[in-house]
Amino acid sequence: MGRVQGKTALVTGGASGIGLSSASLLAKEGAKVVIADFNAEGAKAAAENIRKQGGEAAGIFLDASHANSIEEAVNFTVSHFGSIDVLFNNVGVTNLQKDLDIVHIDLDEWDRLMNVNLKSVLLGCRYAIPHMQKAGGGSIINTASMAGFTGDSIRSAYGASKAGVVNLTKYIAAQYGKDKIRCNGVAPGLILTPAAEKNIPPSVLEIFAKYNALPYHGEADDIGNTVLFLASEESKFITGQTIQVEGGHYIANPSMADFNLMAQGK
Ligand code: NAI
Repeated sequence: MGRVQGKTALVTGGASGIGLSSASLLAKEGAKVVIADFNAEGAKAAAENIRKQGGEAAGIFLDASHANSIEEAVNFTVSHFGSIDVLFNNVGVTNLQKDLDIVHIDLDEWDRLMNVNLKSVLLGCRYAIPHMQKAGGGSIINTASMAGFTGDSIRSAYGASKAGVVNLTKYIAAQYGKDKIRCNGVAPGLILTPAAEKNIPPSVLEIFAKYNALPYHGEADDIGNTVLFLASEESKFITGQTIQVEGGHYIANPSMADFNLMAQGK
């Protein structure tokens, strides 16, 4: 018996990275999974791969910046597999060129990131919750980010949108808990997904490694396993929380790494 046996899950942004890992792990533990992604070919290939391994999955196109596309993905999930028990709102985008500091940020990019990263979470929930209410419950998981808990020199819109995800998670949990609908977030630190590996030079990875409490980087499955836990009944008394999966990067006084070097005479 799998840990999410018989549940149906919709995973947005499921063709790559964290979404792909989560979809695969959910399927491995018995869930029927709809993988919805802008990259429709990737979503279909991922579903095909799950089916080859004996799981149940379908891949569909999704543009998470459009309400009707999100509604279609929810409706497809219900019509194809009969229910939507788990919704993983995972789509998120970043832009290092235009999402800058407050004085220089491109305001259209601010709107785009709020729309794709934050409003898409609201919309996914808006369309899935009535189905979950009818079915007697469900589990919603939102991908936030450690950028939603901290400040930085750039990525103001990304950080604000992810902070919004953290608090929206609490609102959803507060409003629908009595319907046995749980809502939690997962806040990744740096995770070596294909996108991150492509964009982040080794010098930047070294900086991240320097401040991690653990001596290694995060992988997509570290988030996928957290999502699996939050989707399953193992977490049935957890709601409104955002679990930080970040290798202890943010737990210590920021100056600790430098004091350690000083103690070593460096
Ligand atoms: P990724 O780029 O590997 O995967 C994202 C997927 O979303 C892609 O398949 C892409 O086609 C899809 N997508 C993008 N825009 C879309 C749209 N408008 N509609 C439908 N699908 C769309 O990214 P990754 O790293 O797996 O990130 C997933 C989530 O994790 C995002 O919300 C991101 O902000 C968050 N995150 C990632 C971190 C990391 O270090 N990788 C750190 C913190 C948060």
